[in-house]
Amino acid sequence: MRSKLVFALILTSSALAACRGQTSKDSPIVGIRNMYDQPRYDIQSESTFFADKRTMRPAVEGAVSREMETDPRLLKGRLEDNSGYVLTIPQESVASFGGMDPMLKRGKERYGIFCTPCHDGTGNGKGAVTARAQAGGAAAFLPPTFHQDRLRHMPDGQLYATVENGKSNMPPYGQMLSVHDRWAIVAYVRALQLANPRLGDEKPDDPTAPAPAPTAAAVPATASAAPSASTSAPAPSGSAPSAAPAASAPKPAASAH
Ligand code: HEC
Repeated sequence: MRSKLVFALILTSSALAACRGQTSKDSPIVGIRNMYDQPRYDIQSESTFFADKRTMRPAVEGAVSREMETDPRLLKGRLEDNSGYVLTIPQESVASFGGMDPMLKRGKERYGIFCTPCHDGTGNGKGAVTARAQAGGAAAFLPPTFHQDRLRHMPDGQLYATVENGKSNMPPYGQMLSVHDRWAIVAYVRALQLANPRLGDEKPDDPTAPAPAPTAAAVPATASAAPSASTSAPAPSGSAPSAAPAASAPKPAASAH
């Protein structure tokens, strides 16, 4: 009985001793310090060495990283004289993947990671995030469907700029995607548009609208497989023709010329 009491006392006192309620300016007690103490600057800490007291040094003016793309067509999707957007994906970017097929494969993968949450695998703008936003009452600036004429005819460079810089409610993805990955996504968005030419034609909430679009898996990863998107779910009876693209649909590669 007594030993139980002692045990309980030890337990409560050690629990209290471990209380971390108070803050302290003293350095923490660390048994084996090894590399704990070493001369280094902490992020955002003050420097006694530099006149401006910043430990985080700004880049020297005009510095360009070795990896940085300097061609405005590739980097910004803008013409060399900055008079407008480039109309088609620069050939250099296609070449960097070794052709349009590997580029689309990469674009499909990156699109799946970065765009599907909001724009859906089909590009109809009804991704999981959109559904949640709507359920929570957010109705402004929802992602648009890619299957509308304005975006079908938008210059490739403007699509690229949207990925890089974002637009109103859409965040920018430039810092997460390399220049060529951004172009690969543009190529894949074009492939989606070609593979689902009828998507977006239906009116919202139209019961006779075509059946749900083919899933991303049914969308071709390669230009040559384009007609395979005809494997869409069967349309409800009496509805408009299914979303199968014409077998003669131009290959996405065409947008690279
Ligand atoms: C967090 C959600 C979200 C993600 C992720 C997202 N978008 Fe968007 N996107 C939006 C919203 C919201 C809009 C509508 C913006 C507006 O109304 O101006 C939009 C608009 C667009 C547009 C139309 C721009 C225009 O001029 O109307 C394109 C193209 C687009 N997104 C492409 C992409 C691509 C490609 C990706 C993947 C890299 C992506 N988006 C990722 C939310 C998102």
